[in-house]
Amino acid sequence: MRSNLPPRLLLSQHPSSRARKLQSFPSAPAASLVEAVEGALGAVSRGRAGGGSPSAAARPAPRGPWWFRAAGAAPASGQASCCRAVRVPGPPGDSSSERLCVPRSPVVGKASMGLLNGDALLSVAIAVAVFLLLVDLMHRRQRWAARYPPGPMPVPGLGNLLQLDFQNLPYSFYKLRHQFGDVFSLQFAWTPVVVFNGLVAVREALVNHGEDTSDRPPVPTNELMGFGPKAKGVIGAPYGPGWREQRRFSVSTLRNLGLGKKSLEQWVTEEATCLCDAFANHAGHPFNPSALLSKAVCNVIASLIYAHRFEYNDPIFIRMLKFLEDALREDSGLLLQVLNSMPVLLHIPWVAANVLPAQRSFMALLNELLTEHKTTWDPDEPPRGLADAFLAEVHKTKEKSESSFNDENLRLVISELFTAGMVTTSITMSWALLLMILHPDVQCRVHQEIDEVIGQGRRPEMGDQAHMPFTNAVIHEVQRFGDIVPMSVPHMTSRDTEVQGFLIPKGTILFINLSSVLKDETIWEKPFHFHPEHFLDAEGCFVKREAFMPFSAGPRICLGEPLARMELFLFFTCLLQRFSFSVPKGNPQPSDRGMSLPLVAPSPYEICAVSR
Ligand code: HEM
Repeated sequence: MRSNLPPRLLLSQHPSSRARKLQSFPSAPAASLVEAVEGALGAVSRGRAGGGSPSAAARPAPRGPWWFRAAGAAPASGQASCCRAVRVPGPPGDSSSERLCVPRSPVVGKASMGLLNGDALLSVAIAVAVFLLLVDLMHRRQRWAARYPPGPMPVPGLGNLLQLDFQNLPYSFYKLRHQFGDVFSLQFAWTPVVVFNGLVAVREALVNHGEDTSDRPPVPTNELMGFGPKAKGVIGAPYGPGWREQRRFSVSTLRNLGLGKKSLEQWVTEEATCLCDAFANHAGHPFNPSALLSKAVCNVIASLIYAHRFEYNDPIFIRMLKFLEDALREDSGLLLQVLNSMPVLLHIPWVAANVLPAQRSFMALLNELLTEHKTTWDPDEPPRGLADAFLAEVHKTKEKSESSFNDENLRLVISELFTAGMVTTSITMSWALLLMILHPDVQCRVHQEIDEVIGQGRRPEMGDQAHMPFTNAVIHEVQRFGDIVPMSVPHMTSRDTEVQGFLIPKGTILFINLSSVLKDETIWEKPFHFHPEHFLDAEGCFVKREAFMPFSAGPRICLGEPLARMELFLFFTCLLQRFSFSVPKGNPQPSDRGMSLPLVAPSPYEICAVSR
């Protein structure tokens, strides 16, 4: 997922559509397309050769490729050198359509013959094919290097794209893992990819060799959004000083914002109350909770960045969420991946001006908000949110040319935090409510624990978590079972490295199969079932599990993890303190199978929220 939109969570989607298109391109339309092209070309050549009567050009072309007809119908080159007009019959049975054709001049005729001659074309085609094959071999020569991870045999040009089901990559990788082991290699067109599976290999790659495996593939499409070489953000930033500076800044700002007027926990708790009120407005009638969950989580990020929350019916807010949703769709689309793989296309003016409209609209809206925010910024006051803290850094470091604090990077970092922080957490909350209506026994035990530890007299707070092992286990199991970022965000090796005895060269794209860890059959008792006991010991105490890795691991581990955990606990307990959730009467049981968006979300479902 090289995108300019931050999450890029599942760049891996890109070849999916490409592969599927190639596989499913129907043969009949393909044939008629070829015929149409041949017909058009034939018509053009006939039009030219025959003096250009439109009606003649529009007549059905004789069968066979246009270059074959042109070469075959014309007399041999020497004979065709006269300028006499010749009579060319029309289609059988249409004597009226016989027409005069003026053969081309000897020079043109010779040149065309040279170009159109079937043998010559065949030689050119063979030469091009050999050339492409050599380029292809060159791109995958590392497959033959000593101790390179094994993998399925790629086909020229496409690599292994047709051998994978991009709608269900975890399953494709599951089968390949059984065939080739925990570390295997793939070829995505000309891009070499290595996939790590299982706790041991993933930990070794991300943690033990984190210094070598924490780079990211480049994102040339960032230029389209107006980001220059000094704006790299955090998620897509190459592993280096710019990334380190921004990551440190985001982590410490997230931690220190609690020192402002309102703590982050207060923001989240107040938002949870607004969310509960919006649920209550449905008065027990069925509704799909996803949009409200997105609004609540988006407001937490808005508070964090701008110290501002939106009303749920604010048109700007609704527009922003719509742009974000569409932008994510673009993010997982084929076009973005093609542009990032062939950056030369970005120089085509139409492409540069028109592609990725939703991402442009989303960025434009964030810019508007930022511009407005800047007008009220007072450098002498403590920062209201991350944007103020960033502006202060820009001010402080404006003399330092190597600093990553600049206006462009501020825009990119903000858009990254919005997208990475919003969608992930709201999808996880959506899984949590779905699993509660599918497992009423579990919901009942959560209600009991809330009643015992918090009661109805006050709001939940983070301090309660330590006394609520069952609820904590349920939230962890929701994340394990939901498995929303199954392939993490692609990494890249910044230098040659060795993992599990395999040599992986610099510049190789790495896929971290988090799903293979979260659903590892050798680790979890019931890997494919929702089973909160995975996180409880025999006494009912909460236990941490090493294979719980939804936020990834190593230097690139999700920097929003503490915030996400806080939101999940507070939103979940606030909602369950106030409501009982159930499947609407008469509705079928919703499915617990995920849909790949690029992130894995539950299929749309409705709930009834009845006040307790
Ligand atoms: C349930 C919620 C979340 C999940 C499951 C999640 C998951 C992930 C994963 C798997 C990665 C990729 C790590 C890697 O490359 O190895 C990631 C990266 C990241 N996440 Fe999250 N995330 C969540 C919430 C958040 C939130 C709330 C924020 C911000 C406020 C955030 C910001 C980021 C950033 C900035 C990165 C890039 C880190 C880097 O490249 O150094 N995430 N997240």
